[in-house]
Amino acid sequence: MTTDVLKERHRRWEVRQRTGARKETDMLIQKDVVILSIESSCDETAAAVTVNGRQVLSNEISSQIDIHTLYGGVVPEIASRKHIERMNQVIREAMRTAGKTFCDLDAVAVTAGPGLVGALLTGISEAKAVAFASGLPLIGVHHIEGHISANYIADKTLEPPFACLVVSGGHTNLVRVKGYGEYELLGTTRDDAAGEAFDKVARAIGLGYPGGPKIDRAAKDGNPEAIRFPRGKVEGSEFDFSFSGIKSSVLNYLNTCDMKGEKVDVNDVAASFQEAVVDVLVDHTMAAARLCGLDRIALAGGVASNSALRGRMKAACERENIAFFCPPPVLCTDNAAMIGCAAYYEFLKGRESGLDLNAVPGLKLGESLYGTEAGA
Ligand code: KG4
Ligand code: ZN
Repeated sequence: MTTDVLKERHRRWEVRQRTGARKETDMLIQKDVVILSIESSCDETAAAVTVNGRQVLSNEISSQIDIHTLYGGVVPEIASRKHIERMNQVIREAMRTAGKTFCDLDAVAVTAGPGLVGALLTGISEAKAVAFASGLPLIGVHHIEGHISANYIADKTLEPPFACLVVSGGHTNLVRVKGYGEYELLGTTRDDAAGEAFDKVARAIGLGYPGGPKIDRAAKDGNPEAIRFPRGKVEGSEFDFSFSGIKSSVLNYLNTCDMKGEKVDVNDVAASFQEAVVDVLVDHTMAAARLCGLDRIALAGGVASNSALRGRMKAACERENIAFFCPPPVLCTDNAAMIGCAAYYEFLKGRESGLDLNAVPGLKLGESLYGTEAGA
């Protein structure tokens, strides 16, 4: 990076620190907005370079699945250590693939929550270091907003408003996307997240970790009507979810088979469990879209890779003349391109995090990292 560029960036940084916000002119002179984004909220170390939010120049993901598989699930301490080991290399690769230098960047974005606190902090510290050294604005990003934004990358025509079902290992949210960065939470889980239920049931039937993809695969050889597992309902709350009942019901079924000495057909259990979960997810989402008068539905999060969920939601949308959007699997599971996309819309609103940005492990959808006033 040339000294002149760095000097000019630090001059602007000081102005922004004094005035509290980026000057409009600062933004207007930008033609293309190039963002380096970092994601490390769970067990993927990821970095991406995006242009104007929706164009992905690189999307590097280093998965830690192999090591966590040895323990049957994500071990937070190991996740943090692996992020530290791999982060520099992943960023270097993202910049190299994109053909960009730090001089070409307009901002550095990073997931600030929700997620595992130690894992989040590794990405945040790295992003702060790059932002400070390069004199670039730092943009903290909400992980769930990132998942939703993956849809903007997958389909360049998609614009709010739409309904979005966010289903991952840590979250189950039914969201009304009112505008860029504007969300109304319509429903959430009262207990386990959808992906968590997949992972726990997979472990119980001996498929191991990570459960979701393994149940998806096993279900293809099973009968979804073999066992009738309950469709979880939450009294008095039309759009909320509950998956602990389905999970307990699977465990009871396995115990009963064991006591009776009956053989368990793993594929049938996987298919019947998946059918019960997908039934509820599709029913709630369609009902929410109908109630809100939305003619677009999108899926997001790791569980959005599930073939039955994608197929059933698409068919339901076709029946009701609703447009259906779903990112490819690589943009459903944790990645940094989705963080870059969400950051772009924050950038356009003039939002910037301070170097005191902290991890917010329990950040909920609808809660902002920027308080209520900034750019609102
Ligand atoms: O979004 P993600 O990568 O991380 C979180 O933010 O949680 O989601 C991971 C979750 C895991 O629970 C995994 O089992 C689930 O997504 N998952 C699936 C499939 N692929 C990943 N669940 C069902 N079917 C799949 N094909
Ligand atoms: Zn995620």
